[in-house]
Amino acid sequence: MPRPPAGGRPLASRLRDAKGRSAGSQRWLTRQLNDPYVRAAKAQGLRSRAAFKLIELDEKYGLLKPGARVVDLGAAPGGWTQVAVRKVGPSGRVVALDLLPMEPVRGATVLQGDFQEVETERQVEEALGGEADLVLSDMAPNTTGHAATDHLRIIALAEIALDFALRVLAPGGAFVAKVFQGGAEKGLLDTLKRNFASVRHAKPPASRKESSELYVVATGFRGAAARAGAAAAPEGAAQT
Ligand SMILES: C[S@@+](CC[C@H](N)C(=O)[O-])C[C@H]1O[C@@H](n2cnc3c(N)ncnc32)[C@H](O)[C@@H]1O
Repeated sequence: MPRPPAGGRPLASRLRDAKGRSAGSQRWLTRQLNDPYVRAAKAQGLRSRAAFKLIELDEKYGLLKPGARVVDLGAAPGGWTQVAVRKVGPSGRVVALDLLPMEPVRGATVLQGDFQEVETERQVEEALGGEADLVLSDMAPNTTGHAATDHLRIIALAEIALDFALRVLAPGGAFVAKVFQGGAEKGLLDTLKRNFASVRHAKPPASRKESSELYVVATGFRGAAARAGAAAAPEGAAQT
């Protein structure tokens, strides 16, 4: 999938006539109009600039393979889902879930619900219909502005996603989750290192520099044996 065009003519000039907007919304609009990822998403029929984060993570870590089964948690408005469907092709399967309603994506099963509820998790598993090759979580709670609280809430969502991934992933499978920089994720990283051959932190170029968002990318799921014997010493070096 092509990268967003680098540079391009700044469109801030278009805003000179914009009247009646608050300084905050004016700043947001200026940023949107000048953002090459926003323009590239539009040109490529992608629903979010966030789609490029998954494209870049996939380019780096080879996550999305033809025929793969993928779970996309926190999927709305659907950019990651679109990328996943395009990459796994007609023989793959993509199950997307969000708290919010989401327009259908051809080739994906789209569910609505709170992934913190057991019943929602069950519905996702049922729609998957077998082991997953990749579990993605771009879930993010509404931010409170209090960094420590926001960090704890996002880690809680990532932990729920990881619990699910450990149950449904096929051996060799992968897990990606959004976290924020902030250092409270030691428990999450310990579990990842026990269960995956490789664990890394990634900040894809499409993730805004001023955002404390990061992704954990874990590949090479060790499978049911590791799940059962979580106390076993990890093999190989895990890099974060
Ligand atoms: C950053 S957006 C995802 C963007 C998406 N990856 C894309 O490319 O379009 C985060 C999403 O996580 C969802 N979310 C937050 N908490 C959730 C939960 N408990 N269960 C399901 N979805 C949740 C939000 O509703 C929001 O739509």
